[in-house]
Amino acid sequence: MSIKRVGIVGSGIMGAGIAESAAVHGFEVVLRSRSQGTADSMVAGMEKSLAKQVEKGKLPEAEREAALGRLTAATDLGALSGCDLVIESVVEDLGVKKHLFSELDRICGEHTILATNTSTLPVVDMAMETGRPEKVCGVHFFNPAPVMSLVEIVRPITASDETIASAQAFAEACGKEAVEVKDQAGFVVNALLFPYLNNAVRLLESGVATRDDIDTAMKGGCGFPMGPFALLDLVGLDTSVAILDALYNEFRDPHFAAVPLLRRMVAAELYGRKSGKGFYDYHR
Ligand SMILES: NC(=O)c1ccc[n+]([C@@H]2O[C@H](COP(=O)([O-])OP(=O)(O)OC[C@H]3O[C@@H](n4cnc5c(N)ncnc54)[C@H](O)[C@@H]3O)[C@@H](O)[C@H]2O)c1
Repeated sequence: MSIKRVGIVGSGIMGAGIAESAAVHGFEVVLRSRSQGTADSMVAGMEKSLAKQVEKGKLPEAEREAALGRLTAATDLGALSGCDLVIESVVEDLGVKKHLFSELDRICGEHTILATNTSTLPVVDMAMETGRPEKVCGVHFFNPAPVMSLVEIVRPITASDETIASAQAFAEACGKEAVEVKDQAGFVVNALLFPYLNNAVRLLESGVATRDDIDTAMKGGCGFPMGPFALLDLVGLDTSVAILDALYNEFRDPHFAAVPLLRRMVAAELYGRKSGKGFYDYHR
């Protein structure tokens, strides 16, 4: 199926990034936020991000204007009714996502593919909230979505080959490399990444080294572009704990059990970059 109009639900870090990637690559994008204020600040954020790319010579000015012209912001879910593909990127909470899928199923046309950007949650559970489980899959972008080259296409056991092929074609049209993965918690990247991030916090908690020395060690010793604490702050500590919880629920492996310090930081609303403070302070 040819995808032309894409709906994005959720205006957090990932919703904004996916909307930008799709709009820059020629898709009509309808971005749905719960409040007008958030919708306006998302559009302003995208204007800023695209202006930076023009400044750096990565995007011609005419393409910036065209991308912004393809973007519509809305607060009503009904605005997504004419989309060929809707990707939800709301909070990593299965109850919230399941409710959203049943709403989207009611609102969207019969042909619409409904996708989730979940990092770890069972896609089949969302598919079964709809009357079209064969048209539901995962389209998992990475953070920051306009920059990272990978998209995991998650195939729940209910999805049709046509749905997976359309999702893959969409990701590739956004300039991404797509890999197909089974609907198992963490898929490929987070199943490998999160035990590492969790163990970094464990090392910090047990006093083996300081935050800065652990970040420096992993950059210099493994050639990673950022250390584990800078990465946790980028992902968001609340999202990271939700990811670890979903992994632990699926596998019951102690490596996936979020270490206490992470939970305490989330309780204190130290979410990382998005709240201004996490392992690092972004106010300064
Ligand atoms: N942060 C990352 O690095 C990353 C990477 C890939 C995928 N993801 C996934 O993307 C999704 C969104 O993550 P994010 O990092 O953008 O989070 P975020 O905290 O930046 O944004 C979450 C969004 O969900 C909305 N929201 C919260 N509660 C809601 C509710 N009850 N109903 C509807 N909307 C609600 C918020 O208003 C916000 O727009 C999650 O499923 C996450 O696992 C995150």
